Amino acid sequence: MTDIDWAALRAAAVDAMTHAYAPYSNYSVGAAALTDDGRIVSGCNVENASYGVGLCAECALVGDLRMSGGGLLVAFVCVNGAAETIMPCGRCRQVLYEFSAPGMLLETVSGIRTMDEVLPDAFGPRDLEEYRA
Ligand code: THU
Repeated sequence: MTDIDWAALRAAAVDAMTHAYAPYSNYSVGAAALTDDGRIVSGCNVENASYGVGLCAECALVGDLRMSGGGLLVAFVCVNGAAETIMPCGRCRQVLYEFSAPGMLLETVSGIRTMDEVLPDAFGPRDLEEYRA
């Protein structure tokens, strides 16, 4: 945890938040994460006139992860339009879990937590691998 620059991650999340398209909820979100090879990836929420198909910031973030070289996430933070730390929604915890490095950390409303604390007993890629084996 000591070598994670949480201030830089937070700044990237706040910057991402300024790109949000949230005309329906008026609730902008920005997310940023550090990858296992030291990149920072980020994303913002992108809403839609068909409300249910709006994209959370975490969806854009994993798109950025894949488009910029792949890898796994080691640290994550997301913020709202007031630059306050918010929790990833339930669906997005699953989206993040898919690409989580072992021991991935999240800055949460109750301090730094591991992915396993935020999404305990998660279903993930290993469950499918074990089933196929
Ligand atoms: N939102 C995110 O982008 N990520 C989350 O983890 C929580 C919710 C967005 C979705 C919607 O555009 C707005 O916040 C209000 O729910």
